[in-house]
Amino acid sequence: MGHTVEELKQEFVNAFDRTDIDGIYFAPGRVNLIGEHTDYNGGHVFPCALTIGTYGVIAKRDDRILRFCSLNMKGKKIYESSLDDLVPSEEANWTNYPKGVMWTFEKQGYTIPSGMDILIYGNIPAGSGLSSSASLEVLTGLMIRDTFGFEISMQELALIGQYSENHFNGMNCGIMDQFASAMGQKDCAIFLDTNTLSYEYAPVKLSNAKIVITNSKVKHSLVESSYNKRREECETALKDLQAVTDLKTLGDLDEGRFEQFKEAIKDPVCRKRAKHAVYENQRAIKAVSALKENDIKKFGELMNQSHVSLRDDYETSCAETDILAELAWAIPGVLGSRITGGGFGGCTVSIVENDSVDRFIQEVGKNYKEKTGVEAEFYVVECAQGAHKIEC
Ligand code: GLA
Repeated sequence: MGHTVEELKQEFVNAFDRTDIDGIYFAPGRVNLIGEHTDYNGGHVFPCALTIGTYGVIAKRDDRILRFCSLNMKGKKIYESSLDDLVPSEEANWTNYPKGVMWTFEKQGYTIPSGMDILIYGNIPAGSGLSSSASLEVLTGLMIRDTFGFEISMQELALIGQYSENHFNGMNCGIMDQFASAMGQKDCAIFLDTNTLSYEYAPVKLSNAKIVITNSKVKHSLVESSYNKRREECETALKDLQAVTDLKTLGDLDEGRFEQFKEAIKDPVCRKRAKHAVYENQRAIKAVSALKENDIKKFGELMNQSHVSLRDDYETSCAETDILAELAWAIPGVLGSRITGGGFGGCTVSIVENDSVDRFIQEVGKNYKEKTGVEAEFYVVECAQGAHKIEC
């Protein structure tokens, strides 16, 4: 984990010069196995929570002051603010995430009675696309809920996190990341219908294979604006389709109906985006059925198709993640490999047979380094529990 609970407590004392702590919490990052860029299109996603994430130590104050300290920041700088000043600003840096969650609480009628001191430590690699911001949002929500005794479900905490990200931090993300962080369950991925928020836990205990995340270590600029643009393109496509057939979201369509009506989408770029959203949603549904039938091979093939679609139709992959996927596909024992998360860099996720994991890490690592000059990182992961209290 990088820091023991005792160390976190000591760091809290060092940062804020007080020993009365109300609680220590953890919220995980996530990896999405399949169902990418479907969560704002009324489709299905299939993420799981990870064992890496964000830790938080909280103590309430008698006044309205907010103090934040992150062990990940050089010099462990303390950011001071106030409950009366919940507006996003560049100077507030990473504290815009917890402040956004507090702002959302207030906006939704949960009056936070006092300020607080919060110490944060995260072990999700920076820029990896494994949802460090969602984990920070869910963590903040959970800490505030418990510390001040609000009655809010974990699912609502996920929605609060998403709302704050959309309206305070300007990223029009869907619900997947916050949902996975809040609702994760050990050894399971969450099959979530983002249209209704109904969900089901599907066991992902693969007997002879592992989930391997490969970090490309690149993050291209303009990720947020490109992401928001994809979302707009899907909305344009939806409007065009609604002129000719009855549907609420792209997730309402299967491949057949999409093919029947697709010419109604005037702009060819928007048509490609919608094609991805529709087909990817169907792939996620099929992949979960395959997993239930223990057909991991089929699951892997659908993952590969997902990558191709993200590369060619949705255009959220990039040269580096394409290289990682292609290198993975060439290795025997790799059942499937695809870019995961928002895209434009970040990670791929692969299902690799146990016997091939070492070879996978060695060969993909070596060839990726040769082709890009970058040293990839590998994490063999398990599906983990969602956000929870650790101590106090
Ligand atoms: C980011 C967003 C999610 C989701 C994915 C793509 O992680 O935060 O809501 O849209 O991208 O599947």
